[in-house]
Amino acid sequence: MESLLSDGIRETPPSFVRGILKAASEPDIISFAGGLPNPVSFPQEEMLVSMERIVRTYGSSVFQYSVTAGLPQLREAIARRYCEKYGLQIGADNVLITTGSQQALDLIGKVFLNKKDGIVVEKPTYLAAIQAFAMSQPKFHAVELTEEGLDLEQLAEALQRKVKFIYLIPNFQNPTGLTYSAQSRMQIYEMLRGRDVVLIEDDPYGELRFDGENLPYIGAGRLENSILLGTFSKTVTPGMRVGFLISQNKELLKYLSIAKEAGDLHTNIFAQYLIWDYLQNNDYEMHIAKIKDLYRKQAAAMIDAMKHYFPDGVQYTRPNGGMFLWVTLPEGMRAMSLFPRALEKKVAFVPGDPFYTDRKDTNTMRLNYTNADCGTIREGIRRLGECICAVNG
Ligand SMILES: Cc1ncc(COP(=O)(O)O)c(C=O)c1O
Repeated sequence: MESLLSDGIRETPPSFVRGILKAASEPDIISFAGGLPNPVSFPQEEMLVSMERIVRTYGSSVFQYSVTAGLPQLREAIARRYCEKYGLQIGADNVLITTGSQQALDLIGKVFLNKKDGIVVEKPTYLAAIQAFAMSQPKFHAVELTEEGLDLEQLAEALQRKVKFIYLIPNFQNPTGLTYSAQSRMQIYEMLRGRDVVLIEDDPYGELRFDGENLPYIGAGRLENSILLGTFSKTVTPGMRVGFLISQNKELLKYLSIAKEAGDLHTNIFAQYLIWDYLQNNDYEMHIAKIKDLYRKQAAAMIDAMKHYFPDGVQYTRPNGGMFLWVTLPEGMRAMSLFPRALEKKVAFVPGDPFYTDRKDTNTMRLNYTNADCGTIREGIRRLGECICAVNG
């Protein structure tokens, strides 16, 4: 059978996290490995009401085939929100509903990439984006991510080669939790302005800012060839698989829509009605505020525990939103070797390796703080601290 497989699937790494999640799913394991929203944040009762209402109000439409671009009312609601909240000047026509942001990544790969085409990604970056793009066998140019944003010298160097698109996660990045500064955003915008390259801003976590003001997008609303990705996965429910992409460029949207039609005809229409009805009939802002409150406390609990239990020489990011933080172990220590030791102590995390396109045996790891209460987080970090100290000697 091996000989029958496509080159694309052969070159696509299996999801390392799925393997880890399996190991981490034993009931007595404290898992910082997944990227799961806290289930207490799901508006279950409100969804139950919406479910009944959409079936009674819209009847067979919620069960019928529908249009590829997505439910017009939902596209309209998304466009309005991005105009009001982020100052974009867009309408429903600029929005394409996708089956989670993950589908948007797949469509982008299909629309733009031929084998060996260059693309720029952050170093490290979201591992399932690596996976989605790898199907098209591109050449990855990884540009170092710093506390401020991208390393601009490396970006300039990468842009000297032919690259089709640049994939960035500017807010509370997965995996690092880092956010690009306003200055870095402006500099990247200046570098990309007038260039024949597409900018993809993937923003599943921007709504989950703990403190302070939102920063402007780099390209959304300003660069003709830019695509902004959003999702309801982190603010309402990931299981419904409703995400969206926004672009000013209608030509680009047309191609993405053709690719989507070929892929799944349209996103689950029941789920789209459900999300739309939920948004219409509930205080979404208040709901998001509750999630932020919860995650702010959980992030603080993790950082506090790390200060207490991690030995000197271990560094970590201090995210101001989102779901993850990024730990750098002392030089020479491999996070991969720490993983089985941690599992023995019933605690799990994701070693940094799968977030890189060009590095192995790294001393970095991703920790998720959203899916455990503060007491459990403290205990998990205590155990992890013990493992690090044991390996560190
Ligand atoms: C950066 C990033 N992009 C996309 C996704 C996929 O999200 P969705 O559930 O909308 O497919 C995730 C999920 O964790 C993510 O972290």
